[in-house]
Amino acid sequence: MEKQQKSSHVVLVMLTFQGHITPMLQLASILHSKGFSITIVHPEFNSPNPSNHPEFTFISIPDKLTESHFSDKDAASPVWNLNKNCAAPLQQCLEKILHSLHHIAAVIYDTLMYSAQTITEDLGLLGIVLRTGSATTMLFYPAFSQLDEEHFVYEIKSPELQALQLKRLRALLSQNATKAMTEVRVAFANVLKRSSAIIVNSMEFLELEALSKVKQYFPAPIITIGPLHKFAPAICSSLLTEDDKCISWLNKQAPKSVIYVSFGSIANIDKQELIEIAWGLSNSKQPFLWVVRPGMVRGSEWIESLPNGFEESVGERGCIVKWAPQKEVLAHAAVGGFWTHCGWNSTIESICEGVPMLCRPFFGDQHLNTSSICNVWKIGLELQNLERGNIERTIKRLMVDMEGNGIRKRAIDLKEKAAFYLMEEGSTSCSLNMLIKHILSV
Ligand code: UDX
Repeated sequence: MEKQQKSSHVVLVMLTFQGHITPMLQLASILHSKGFSITIVHPEFNSPNPSNHPEFTFISIPDKLTESHFSDKDAASPVWNLNKNCAAPLQQCLEKILHSLHHIAAVIYDTLMYSAQTITEDLGLLGIVLRTGSATTMLFYPAFSQLDEEHFVYEIKSPELQALQLKRLRALLSQNATKAMTEVRVAFANVLKRSSAIIVNSMEFLELEALSKVKQYFPAPIITIGPLHKFAPAICSSLLTEDDKCISWLNKQAPKSVIYVSFGSIANIDKQELIEIAWGLSNSKQPFLWVVRPGMVRGSEWIESLPNGFEESVGERGCIVKWAPQKEVLAHAAVGGFWTHCGWNSTIESICEGVPMLCRPFFGDQHLNTSSICNVWKIGLELQNLERGNIERTIKRLMVDMEGNGIRKRAIDLKEKAAFYLMEEGSTSCSLNMLIKHILSV
């Protein structure tokens, strides 16, 4: 594809959680490589390091977030507060950019920075939304906002969508929905309805049925340009420092023998869960690489609550790090399974490397991703509870038993399909061309 000639400026409004920073920076990098100049506006909290990306202009806006806005019981609270607190500074920031540059080709905002949509519309700018999660999650939002509940959730006839067990998941997601959660979901649905285009970090073939259903509900064109990490592999986006020593440890392990364990950037566990996971991993007798973020275990700084005797029983068979170079880990020949929380980035990164998954979702879209992994693509097993015996058995089912062979084969087939999709002239570059045309359309 030709670099577009006309000099154009795109403003990206980022949500500064790890699982949202990475895809937004990847998109920025792709657009920059096509000739766009990029400004990234973001809340102060978790600011990305501008020196890692000298090609972009970063503008930080005040968010007034405090510790009290973060709680295990209400994952939506920081998002709701960010939108409330950032709306006025974001508007001033866009006005200032317009005043100095006279032209913004488009504003691309994360779905969860939904306040950007109205501001963009009021300023007469082209607003495009980036959905960093799966396309399938968008099936839920009209129902959550009660736009068309009956038709939407229950009239799903295709086998793929039935396999998702949407009805069961909806009941699960509706349990204990807080006020902030309900408001965020309604805002989310409205953003999808009112934006001029929806960019999704996914591949058309992966979510074909869901996409065709979603397209009936949202009038804007849906542009699937994933997996973004394959288009912008070199981008440096980690908030925590990656510990490379795990790669030399992986180099010493047998092919496909290691289970990689990571619960993403937000999920927390308690001390008893840490102990059950530790013994489950130890008793499985499989080598493991385990990411335990500082502060991930409630009430602990790091891994000081590991049980007595664990280290001796594991020896060189286990490696624990605070943060791993995950994409490199998943691509390593020694890795044979991924015990994941099923965040969308982890899911799509694992699919692209053909690694079968052990799924233990914590909240939100992770439940739906688990359903896609285990029931639709059939490339993983769900871990029903965090009891050590169950962990040991489920790891063996995935890594050692015959059952795991079938799952691994399907995971490799899906990886090959993804590689073919990426190589295919037309599919991905066509989506990117569509996005560029859309940005330049006004
Ligand atoms: C959050 C939500 O939990 C998730 O449900 C939603 O889909 C996106 O936002 P997060 O917990 O950050 O996601 O998980 P995920 O989407 O999987 O993103 C984590 C990212 O961190 C991945 O890109 C992964 O490669 C990276 N990572 C994780 C590392 O680089 N090193 C690690 O040790 C762990």
